[in-house]
Amino acid sequence: MKVVLQHLTKQFPSRSKGSREVVTAVDDFDFEIPDGKLIGLLGPSGCGKSTTLNLISGLLSPTSGRILFGDDDVTDLPPENRGVGLVFQNYALYPHLTVRQNILFPLQNLKGAAKLTKEEMEEKMLSAARLVQLEDYLERKPAQLSGGQQQRVAIARALVKVPRVLLLDEPLSNLDARLRLQTREEIRRIQRETRVTTVFVTHDQDEAMSISDMIVVMEAGVVQQIGAPQTVYDDPVNLFVAKFLGTPPINVFDGEVKDGALYIGDDSVLPVAGAPDGPVTAGVRPEGFILKADGPLRCSLNRVEVMGRDVSVVSSHPAAGSAAIRSIIGAENQVDEHSDTVRFALKPNKTFLFDKATGGRIRFAAEERTAD
Ligand SMILES: Nc1ncnc2c1ncn2[C@@H]1O[C@H](COP(=O)(O)OP(=O)(O)OP(=O)(O)O)[C@@H](O)[C@H]1O
Ligand SMILES: [Mg+2]
Repeated sequence: MKVVLQHLTKQFPSRSKGSREVVTAVDDFDFEIPDGKLIGLLGPSGCGKSTTLNLISGLLSPTSGRILFGDDDVTDLPPENRGVGLVFQNYALYPHLTVRQNILFPLQNLKGAAKLTKEEMEEKMLSAARLVQLEDYLERKPAQLSGGQQQRVAIARALVKVPRVLLLDEPLSNLDARLRLQTREEIRRIQRETRVTTVFVTHDQDEAMSISDMIVVMEAGVVQQIGAPQTVYDDPVNLFVAKFLGTPPINVFDGEVKDGALYIGDDSVLPVAGAPDGPVTAGVRPEGFILKADGPLRCSLNRVEVMGRDVSVVSSHPAAGSAAIRSIIGAENQVDEHSDTVRFALKPNKTFLFDKATGGRIRFAAEERTAD
């Protein structure tokens, strides 16, 4: 079931007393979530992720705009008639009910034609429990389950009615790091098996990148970029997106374009044909540095951290936006740890230029790199 958001906007009255201002939590969202895909809604705290999800579920109604499931306009339908499965951050299971009863719960209140026999309910409950691999835990109470298992009960409960759309709001935030990793793989597997169109909200870029078919990066109620995770990483439209994706984060420098070359400090560090002259913000991904004895970017070497396959070089530069520049290079590279300086060349496809005022991307034509 595809989900279409048409010029969707949600405003809240400002919380400050006496103010007539409004907070625009969701500002003119206009995009389509393709059928059967898992999309990640990604952005910092307060950017409007939960509001978007609650608009799709029907718990909130929009200030303006429409929501369609397939060709079905659901904007005025109450949540219970939309056929959505919801899992919240605090996935309150009923503590006094067993796993079986928790999963059965949504089936027991069906009315009219939708009403199920006991056998039908049991069958659906079992198939949802199997999907999340909890069929051996049916008689336990939530308190007797691990966090990850409780999470899976919540997912089974959201799936038991076979929703048209599955909505997950930071479903992993209560889990420890290992369980998070494991459960997100499981969500991916369940989504692939059921092919339910799924919206997954998170502020964790790593999580969004690893499980989504498509990510929507938001800031302050505004969609910044939509695309496959790798595409958005490789081709960010602005500085916000470039900074938000990637660990370690992108390195930022004050730079200047002069006669088709990028200057950092006094050094011409990269040909950037086609970029107009003027000050720019230059972003270099950690993997965008090439260690080179006569490389044009001269940094002060702080330390070298060996991480097995790779080496992380921590250095500094007066034009850098942060105290530490992090570059990741292959472990086969020998860094002279006793030297005060380290020199780099830059990879043109890992270096991005941004407008200093707006943060918008400035494109340039990457030159074929000659063999170093
Ligand atoms: N009921 C409300 N009344 C007033 N303002 C609200 C209401 N709900 C949300 N907001 C505001 O709307 C904005 C978006 O909130 P939302 O909960 O969607 O953010 P979020 O991206 O889910 O953040 P988080 O990652 O912290 O959960 C925030 O500025 C928030 O303060
Ligand atoms: Mg939220």
